[in-house]
Amino acid sequence: MSQPLPIQFRATDLEALAMQTGRIAVFAEPGVALLPGIRRLDRLMKGALARAIGAEAFAKAKPGDAMDLAFPAGLAADAVQLVRLPKRTDTATARKAGAAIGRSHGTAATLILADSHPRAADIAFGFAMRAYDFTPHKSGEQKVPGPVTMMTTDPEATAREASPMAAVAEGVFFTRDLVNEPANILTTHDFAARLAAMHELGLEVEILEEPELLKLGMNALLGVGMGSESPSKVVVMQWKGGKKGDAPFALVGKGVVFDTGGISIKPAAGMEDMTMDMGGAGVVAGVMRTLAMRKAKANVVGLVGLVENMPDGRAQRPGDVVRSMKGDTIEVINTDAEGRLVLADVLWYAQERFKPTGMINLATLTGAIIVALGHENTGVFSNNDELCNAFLKACAAEGEGAWRMPMGEAYDAKLTSRIADMVNSCGRDGGAVTAAQFLARFVKPDTPWCHLDIAGTALVKADTALAPKGATGWGVMALDRLIRDRFEKG
Ligand code: BES
Ligand code: MN
Ligand code: ZN
Repeated sequence: MSQPLPIQFRATDLEALAMQTGRIAVFAEPGVALLPGIRRLDRLMKGALARAIGAEAFAKAKPGDAMDLAFPAGLAADAVQLVRLPKRTDTATARKAGAAIGRSHGTAATLILADSHPRAADIAFGFAMRAYDFTPHKSGEQKVPGPVTMMTTDPEATAREASPMAAVAEGVFFTRDLVNEPANILTTHDFAARLAAMHELGLEVEILEEPELLKLGMNALLGVGMGSESPSKVVVMQWKGGKKGDAPFALVGKGVVFDTGGISIKPAAGMEDMTMDMGGAGVVAGVMRTLAMRKAKANVVGLVGLVENMPDGRAQRPGDVVRSMKGDTIEVINTDAEGRLVLADVLWYAQERFKPTGMINLATLTGAIIVALGHENTGVFSNNDELCNAFLKACAAEGEGAWRMPMGEAYDAKLTSRIADMVNSCGRDGGAVTAAQFLARFVKPDTPWCHLDIAGTALVKADTALAPKGATGWGVMALDRLIRDRFEKG
């Protein structure tokens, strides 16, 4: 499991700064007085830092951008990294500044001189998030990352503020590891075992196996896994940090450990990316980990449907009709529209068993959402303006892109089947919306609900502000904040 790098917090200390090896990162804004500790460092450097801050290149830098000063006179360090960051700034910019430092952290030591900067904890969080690297399958010597220290004027206060953020970083790393892991390693069995191991953190974890799912009538979910050697599973994770007996909030995730498309097989080009088709389940797992690590005062249940969609002699065929746990029948027009079949049963089970006060599901559900929104925003679909707006607000506060999409009866009408209660696929037009309408049929009218289509945001081909290319962990931060704002205030 990848761990966020531990950061040691200590008081600003000029002597220690002079002796520090590796790299020292500092923050400044052109034309503005330096923070006291950074001014003292500049004196050690005989004004070289102030000259760099006055340079044209730094004036052109955007907040959060960094510039390196190599082998500074007066210091033992090999480099001073100058990061543009005003004292008054928002969370996202402070994190970006930290991330600029985390991106280039190697085997040498890094000392972050945040001094009296009010956003020191956010800078530390950004550093940790961007220093992530997925290396378990790289052979040869593993590079040990250098130690990381942050100096501030009140290190105890900074550490206190950074502690819940470290729990969020852990959750994000857990999600990223799961999403980056290939499907020969992250089988349904391995995935369930990694979730069961979170028992240690105080989560109640149950694994429902195929015979039990059959008894419950989850035929829509079971149909998807019929072609695979890996048995289908539903994993239920309960965090009971709130008032005893209070109904929980539910998070539901699509966990297709690999999506070949099944008999409606996908083209070869790019199919390898379908190792990320468990991204929704990965985010649910990451949020549950964060809640447990920071001992959240809320009742939250996470449910994930783990299956593998493979073609085989026993695989489900196009044209098959399955009866869902709810009782509605589904004509499986396309075996590649499998995520909604999995979610239909897990959503229904979540409501029947837990009567949640609200429910959010996440899924890498459609290619169509990528056509609509690219990789910048998750598509948000909802039956409840209040829950939806609260979630969008949490996304904005965390800098996670999200955009509400429409729903409506005319879209729902496209799901009509000739021989069953509905089809699972109805053509390309509005594909992300019709997928959402399909899910909505398995949501009770009085359950406030959001569906998040993360097909474009779970995995990216280029670095983002807080993540190297690959799995992003999109949604862990926003969902953790939503739960904090909704259940843990006052
Ligand atoms: N897992 C895919 C969606 C997907 C596509 C995720 C690209 C990430 C990147 C999903 O199961 C799927 O195959 N959806 C089909 C639905 C269609 C058959 C109605 C799609 O989007 O093409
Ligand atoms: Mn598919
Ligand atoms: Zn899929």
